[in-house]
Amino acid sequence: MKKIVWSQDLSVGVAEIDEQHRQWIQRLNDVAAAMAANLGPVQTAKTLAFLIDYTKLHFATEEKLMTERGYPGLPAQRAQHKELTATLQDLLRDFEEEGATQKLAETINTFLGNWLLKHIREEDLKFGAFLKAQPA
Ligand SMILES: [Fe+2]
Ligand SMILES: [Fe+2]
Repeated sequence: MKKIVWSQDLSVGVAEIDEQHRQWIQRLNDVAAAMAANLGPVQTAKTLAFLIDYTKLHFATEEKLMTERGYPGLPAQRAQHKELTATLQDLLRDFEEEGATQKLAETINTFLGNWLLKHIREEDLKFGAFLKAQPA
């Protein structure tokens, strides 16, 4: 698959969030690479579990910051975060039950990357703009 790369146009303007987005992309690429290289169930499940853990950490960081800043878009963010977390848990369960199927590989390669890029562009950047408009 085509590796996803973080680029400046994805910058939310908060160093911690940008760094987490970079890490998230790295972990997603690790999952895709593990599946592509047929690293085997244990190793691949491990990369997926790392991705899930990191996703939770990242969403918690964002939601905490949004709460602190009184961001009005928090409910929409929370809903999307919750949905993706559930999707990831389903993916891990599917993987544990069925192994690295074509469908799973496609979901990981296209859906997750697209979801992230769309979410950053449409939701996280809005939060960045909100913060910039606010006195620190
Ligand atoms: Fe984010
Ligand atoms: Fe977010």
